[in-house]
Amino acid sequence: MINDKVREILNEQINKELGSAYIYLAMSAYLADIGLYGFAHWTEVQSREEIDHAMILYKYILDRKAKVVLKPIQIDNEEYSGPVEVCEKIYEHERMITSSIDCVAYLTEDECDLATRNFIDWYLNEQIEEESSVLKVLSKFKAFGSEKASLYLLDKELGEREYSHQTYES
Ligand code: FEO
Repeated sequence: MINDKVREILNEQINKELGSAYIYLAMSAYLADIGLYGFAHWTEVQSREEIDHAMILYKYILDRKAKVVLKPIQIDNEEYSGPVEVCEKIYEHERMITSSIDCVAYLTEDECDLATRNFIDWYLNEQIEEESSVLKVLSKFKAFGSEKASLYLLDKELGEREYSHQTYES
């Protein structure tokens, strides 16, 4: 069993992960619209992984015999000036998610819920990877994005990202 405070913050995190999926999907639509189909695919894959992140929390709450409460998802429909700005927004967003996960970890420690604290390690590690991966994409767009030929090749490379179903065990 998890207490009310822990249950509440985990449900909020589900909402943020699903919100992330929505944001990545909006980015994917924008990128497809400007012809960057590879980067559109990359963000769509990320959107699917965010749903997996939400589902890992969802299953954990149910496993601990607590109530899942799904809240409305609200995002701002942002305008982007190009792929560099999309990367910058992704990085900014992922840093916000990292802070949010940090708060979950702190709360579980305060509440002496060490099982949930241990569970949250998966998310702490995932955030390191997510921040690092978008920074690499950002560097590449900054280095090669201004030439049409290299932009084409970079977009092609991003289109090769494969979706792998994210689980707590993976
Ligand atoms: Fe699930 Fe991108 O944080």
